[in-house]
Amino acid sequence: MLKKIFIKTFGCQMNEYDSNRIFDTVKEIGFEKTDKYEDANCYLLNTCHIRDKAKEKVYHEIGRVKKIFRSKPKPIVIVAGCVAQAENQEMLKREPYIDIVIGPQSYHKINEAILKHSKNKKKEEETEFDTISKFNYLSKIKNKDSKVSSFLTIQEGCDKFCHFCVVPYTRGPEYSRPFKQIIDEAKELIDSGAKEIILLGQNVNAYKFQDNNREYKLSDLLLELNGFDQIERVRYTTSHPKDMTEDLINVYKKSSKLMPLVHLPVQSGSNKILKSMNRKHTIEEYLKVYESLKEINPNVEFSSDFIIGYPGEDEDDFNKTMELIEKIGFINSYSFIFSARPGTVAADLTQVNAVKSKERLEIIQKRLFENQIKKNKSLENKILNVLVENIMKDGIKLFGRTEYMTSVIFDGDIDNIGKIVQVEITSSNQNSLFGKLVESSKKKVA
Ligand code: SAM
Ligand code: SF4
Ligand code: F3S
Repeated sequence: MLKKIFIKTFGCQMNEYDSNRIFDTVKEIGFEKTDKYEDANCYLLNTCHIRDKAKEKVYHEIGRVKKIFRSKPKPIVIVAGCVAQAENQEMLKREPYIDIVIGPQSYHKINEAILKHSKNKKKEEETEFDTISKFNYLSKIKNKDSKVSSFLTIQEGCDKFCHFCVVPYTRGPEYSRPFKQIIDEAKELIDSGAKEIILLGQNVNAYKFQDNNREYKLSDLLLELNGFDQIERVRYTTSHPKDMTEDLINVYKKSSKLMPLVHLPVQSGSNKILKSMNRKHTIEEYLKVYESLKEINPNVEFSSDFIIGYPGEDEDDFNKTMELIEKIGFINSYSFIFSARPGTVAADLTQVNAVKSKERLEIIQKRLFENQIKKNKSLENKILNVLVENIMKDGIKLFGRTEYMTSVIFDGDIDNIGKIVQVEITSSNQNSLFGKLVESSKKKVA
């Protein structure tokens, strides 16, 4: 019988990367991918624990799978990712339909767990922090992700312990992959057709690898990737303001391929709240990074993450966040109401009134969305360089992205996929630009 796996992914880009690598791994024991639940004989849910109801979402999803397979042979059910790491044994006890629970640092053990379970039908649980073994194992399995824009994890885990965040508990301590291992994987991605590489890490700019008396940093990786002719664009995410060092800022001068959008989560515009969050930087320091980058390259734009209603946030703190938004003019941002995560310091603090937080979220999102709409509108009638990623579901329109990651939808030939083309923008909305192809010849990025 054909072995088919259905993988559903929640959460951040690192989970997306992990899901791809999990698939590369299970392929070794004969699995094929399916995008239909009902065809699967193995169902894997890659979970996220960052905000509310993460756990309940998982049990709800498993309930759906149960229903789908009511009159069919049960698939092997695997829960992976950050909820698996946080809940481990508990999941197996609460939902007997789950067969395997595997944490993010144990994916190198997934084939062993599946084979063992297939043989003895016993529950399997793997939730150790064993990042070195994970990446050593994965580096021996080719990354066959054949997307035009591909993710590449260079760093995992976090030692910062912001008081609201579960990541240090679910992904473990900070670990940076060896420089050569990363470059080798980048070459594999290039061989499979990648034109854009997005370097990933929970704290990507904390990347630090020591080899033969030389220390490699994120700036070294970016400059190395800049040297590959086949790569058109390079990005990295997610950065911490404290790790925006001078060498990294200077890459914006030296690299023609590093895109001019910096995603730099600030969370709050108030120093009082930043301190209580244990963010380890002030607003003045954040603004200094902003100014240095603008000085080096005035085209650099910023996007950010905000947490609204963090314990202790009063009107004055919230107004400071609004002031920062006015000052920087973020072109794209994510904002969330604070969610108390079990086991974190902030979970024990006095919570802001839920109605108040919701009101503030509406105000901030209105402002952020207005900025986005205004920015997109200003691009109408302009000609932009777009890296074409794929054809859309309708089989007619092409999908690509600008240098600032904005989605562009336009008519064009599939031959353009993987190329940078020029698109004249004819209309826009909050999230996307629409236009027509000017010239399909490959353009160099400015
Ligand atoms: N490492 C990144 C940094 O330092 O900014 C953030 C990574 S975290 C996976 C992504 C975003 O989730 C954060 O920037 C924050 O805005 C949001 N987040 C994390 N914990 C949260 C919580 N307890 N409640 C609401 N939002 C949260
Ligand atoms: Fe979470 Fe980012 Fe803070 Fe680490 S630096 S604890 S990943 S928010
Ligand atoms: Fe979620 Fe884990 Fe990523 S908690 S945001 S999947 S690191």
